[in-house]
Amino acid sequence: METRATIGVTGLATMGRNLARNIARHGHTVAVHNRTTSRMTSLVEQFGDEGDFVGAETVEDFVAAIEQPRAIIVMVKAGAPTDAVIDELVPLLDEGDILVDAGNAHFADTLRREKALAEKGIHFVGMGVSGGEEGALNGPSIMVGGSDHAYERLAPVVESIAAQVDGTPCAAHLGPDAAGHFVKMVHNGIEYADMQLIAESFDLLRSVLGLEPSEIADVFREWNEGDLESFLIEMTADVLAHTDASTGKPFVDVVGDAAEQKGTGRWTVQSALDLGIPVTGIAEATFARSLSGHTSQRAAVRTTFADLADLDPSTQREVERDAFVDDVRAALYASKIVAYAQGFDQLAAGSKEHGWDLDLGEVATIWRGGCIIRARFLDRIKEAYAAEPGLETLLTAPWFADAIGEGVQAWRRVVAVSAERGVPAPAFASSLAYFDGLRRDRLPAALIQALRDNFGAHTYTRVDREGTFHTDWAGDRSESSTD
Ligand code: 6PG
Repeated sequence: METRATIGVTGLATMGRNLARNIARHGHTVAVHNRTTSRMTSLVEQFGDEGDFVGAETVEDFVAAIEQPRAIIVMVKAGAPTDAVIDELVPLLDEGDILVDAGNAHFADTLRREKALAEKGIHFVGMGVSGGEEGALNGPSIMVGGSDHAYERLAPVVESIAAQVDGTPCAAHLGPDAAGHFVKMVHNGIEYADMQLIAESFDLLRSVLGLEPSEIADVFREWNEGDLESFLIEMTADVLAHTDASTGKPFVDVVGDAAEQKGTGRWTVQSALDLGIPVTGIAEATFARSLSGHTSQRAAVRTTFADLADLDPSTQREVERDAFVDDVRAALYASKIVAYAQGFDQLAAGSKEHGWDLDLGEVATIWRGGCIIRARFLDRIKEAYAAEPGLETLLTAPWFADAIGEGVQAWRRVVAVSAERGVPAPAFASSLAYFDGLRRDRLPAALIQALRDNFGAHTYTRVDREGTFHTDWAGDRSESSTD
């Protein structure tokens, strides 16, 4: 087989196929391979005129078609299928070759694979690709990990196929080994929080104001003209305006209300727990999806409490349409700031833990286009880190601090209305509690420390003296220094 492809793509389901087409359309010769050959032949047949494809039926031919050092993108399901493809390819590779996992792998798997393949002289790259099918074809956001050697080889392809914002590609080498997959995981966690906040906004506007989905679509369309402008807000307007063809009902009303998840949100929360970072917005979003799936439990509770007289309209504050719509907008914006602040905290903590030296401003830069959470907002985050690279939290960056200051009363009103009317808004409420928690002069954590010392002699510190102490709770209650 003639060695002429710049890069190879194996795994030609929708994402892999679109990525290969995107690469070819940008003038790079791409070798394509799939375990079931028909996917490869149909790609070349249907889209062969879009660029230069080298179709390979066997793994051997595929590897032989790629220029050395070889660069191969693997786009298969995360987990065991990825390991299987790696195991098949590795014996055919040479030292210095580059193997790129572009799926949604768990970063711990990427750490493991990178280490194992480095011993064989193969550069393993975890590459997060966001933007769904459309993004893969027309310009995704690409979060690249792995070695400098690997990125040098990949950069011309990766940077040309990525989305571009203001002439800057939404692709970057973020750090070694699993940095790219870690950043993609947190991206997805933020995606969960963003969608949950949008869903809560929709529920409040509908349940409190009685607006129809098509009217709420107009509200979202209007919001998309301002600071909330983003891909997900725009898409929400589109989905809410859609009518189901077979029933004539709003489409959103015929969709089952148990949300699925493939796992990246859960991974984000699990990692945050390990790192000790309170990502409450992402966690609430993940748990809200779980709750939605507990349909029999939901039915049992709904039945048991059907006649509970806790939602008495006479005790509920009155709301006026335009004012409430604007309150929800402000609450959504403030809660979104919290979700991103938490996500970026997790990025900083992960970077420290794993020695990735992530540039948070660069992450914001490559999330401005191509990815699911792309938003005007990301420009503000980029600016915040440019002005102050060591920023303690995004909440204190001037733009965001002002936005929270302006929106905080509305945020409180929305959370109060949701509680009074029994419309669950867990992400709104927990984001507000997070903000209030950080803001508080003294937290009741002091009492928790006292209790821990009482039942388990776990010791405590004092506000007025250095050191650690224990009180003899069962005895004479004298205090001793434990240093
Ligand atoms: C992206 C998306 C993409 C996918 C998620 C959906 O950035 O392009 O995040 O990765 O849509 O895997 O995840 P859930 O199935 O967990 O919602």
